[in-house]
Amino acid sequence: MNTHTFLKSTFLLCLVGIFTACGGTQKQSSTDESDSLNTHIIPKEQWLDTDGNPINAHGGGLLYHEGTYYWYGEYKVGKTYLPEWATWECYRTDVTGVSCYSSTDLLNWKFEGVVLKAVPDDENHDLHPSKVLERPKVVYNAKTKKFVMWAHVESADYSKAAAGVAISDTPNGEFTYLGSFRPNETMSRDQTVFVDDDGKAYQFSSSEHNQTMHINELADDYLKPTGRYVRRFVDQAREAPAVFKKDGKYYMLSSGCTGWDPNRAELAVADSIMGEWTVLGDPCRGVDADKTFYGQSTFVQPIAGKENAYVAMFDMWKKTDLADSRYIWLPIVVQNDTLTIPYMEKWNIEEVFGK
Ligand code: GAL
Repeated sequence: MNTHTFLKSTFLLCLVGIFTACGGTQKQSSTDESDSLNTHIIPKEQWLDTDGNPINAHGGGLLYHEGTYYWYGEYKVGKTYLPEWATWECYRTDVTGVSCYSSTDLLNWKFEGVVLKAVPDDENHDLHPSKVLERPKVVYNAKTKKFVMWAHVESADYSKAAAGVAISDTPNGEFTYLGSFRPNETMSRDQTVFVDDDGKAYQFSSSEHNQTMHINELADDYLKPTGRYVRRFVDQAREAPAVFKKDGKYYMLSSGCTGWDPNRAELAVADSIMGEWTVLGDPCRGVDADKTFYGQSTFVQPIAGKENAYVAMFDMWKKTDLADSRYIWLPIVVQNDTLTIPYMEKWNIEEVFGK
């Protein structure tokens, strides 16, 4: 490690200490009262968009495109209910669609609308309100110039275990739904899509009754799998995958499999995306780290224009009122070659990663 890296790491660690020690005073909103701009990320608080409405984008992911971040997520409105047949806590809201917000600073989010809408007049449609629509992720295909959304779609009884794909010419929609399938004829529930530097895309999905992660290589148009896939994390019941790349290595942040209830996060690394993955352990640090701070991973976003700067995004599910589920976004701190996610009650990109 050179002196610069050492000093930067030490600085970051000090910051972590300061932020962890001084918590507990922030109340209510992430809006600075002196003006209407949000200046900090405050995990677990209610986050408001630029219209003053609570941000509603759960199980989501970001896309950075031409200087703007787009945040897509499950648009959860209305009552949370448990279906009559439920033998487990499959709390849900009616499917209303996928929302999109845009921001240039990751702090102030403009509501772009519901970019993939529910289909209330066809009860057989994947997007009918009675079904389940989770974990939407959008990637940009530089070859076709299309924005491609993948999401977990379920039948009302949770037996479908499929991926739904939608497409748009613009990042803020509207997306056209193309249909659903089981990638490589295998079950697909919690999922994400990752685009590598060479333009190849991969879908990671909890398969085999959520017991084993499948890494499905996608065709050049990103609309379907090529047929090439690998089984990884076999019988390890990993969910909520969030994949990112750093210095040529691939990382997967994931949760265990306990429904809406929190559990311990895990970070794993691989030299090649479809190669062998090595489990590194729990990257979370601080109070309630063993329960991912009461969150569940959903995405990791590299910060544009900065090195070794990543935001880890988690959902803090409120299972009996899912629409009021909150967000926990935290920096990933890189020290030597170790990646940790320290809890911070209030932070922003410049304070943690520098201007
Ligand atoms: C979680 C999963 C969520 C949702 C939930 C339903 O394990 O990560 O996306 O499917 O189960 O209980």
